[in-house]
Amino acid sequence: MTGDEIRAFIFDLDGVITDTAEYHYLGWQRLADEEGIPFDREAGDALRGVARRDALMAILDGRPATDEQVEEMMDRKNRYYVELLAGIDQDAVLAGVLELIRQARGAGLRTAVGSASKNATTVLERLGIAELFDYVADGTTVTVHKPAPDLFLTVARQLGVSPTQAVVFEDATSGVEAALAGGFATVGLGPADRVGDADVVYADLADVTLERVLADLAAVRR
Ligand code: BG6
Ligand code: MG
Repeated sequence: MTGDEIRAFIFDLDGVITDTAEYHYLGWQRLADEEGIPFDREAGDALRGVARRDALMAILDGRPATDEQVEEMMDRKNRYYVELLAGIDQDAVLAGVLELIRQARGAGLRTAVGSASKNATTVLERLGIAELFDYVADGTTVTVHKPAPDLFLTVARQLGVSPTQAVVFEDATSGVEAALAGGFATVGLGPADRVGDADVVYADLADVTLERVLADLAAVRR
């Protein structure tokens, strides 16, 4: 990572912009309970950022399932998740997020979403914030998912910036790995045992200003 000028902010969605990470967890927990598969919050945390099929494979952990059963279980979990989404609106945007995005855009930075979720556009519309982003990459944008860097590299290309000119905000171990693998400046949100490999770590974005992010990254990018 070099000290290139930062020209873009790329936000993961679930667990960064809004707490839908909790809804994904609840959906998987319900499915695992129905299937009699042991699952808990710790196991759910490890699935943050992990694409739908990859997450189910991790939960099944080698248990046999036909293609039809795999499809049915993915659909079922998604139904549970979409049911929970029906209850959200702009109040579900996490503290500090809108302020930071507005500061960034006001300073001329480009802003984008880089999410593994096929529901990303629906979530942004429910939150009423889709117009705050120049580009949205979702679970249909690439075929190789986080922790591979492909999604974030696609976002950077679409924004016309290089990875070293962009900051990725992530709450997931897999997402931090993806951002670092792509050569992005990386801000981890959450506990150090989850996102501690990021260049800079905050508990959340409440009270995190544009000025603070740029200063904290500059201190580690020299
Ligand atoms: C990520 C979430 O953003 O999207 C994961 O952190 C989720 O928990 C993944 O599995 C895929 O989401 P979806 O909506 O396509 O099932
Ligand atoms: Mg996330």
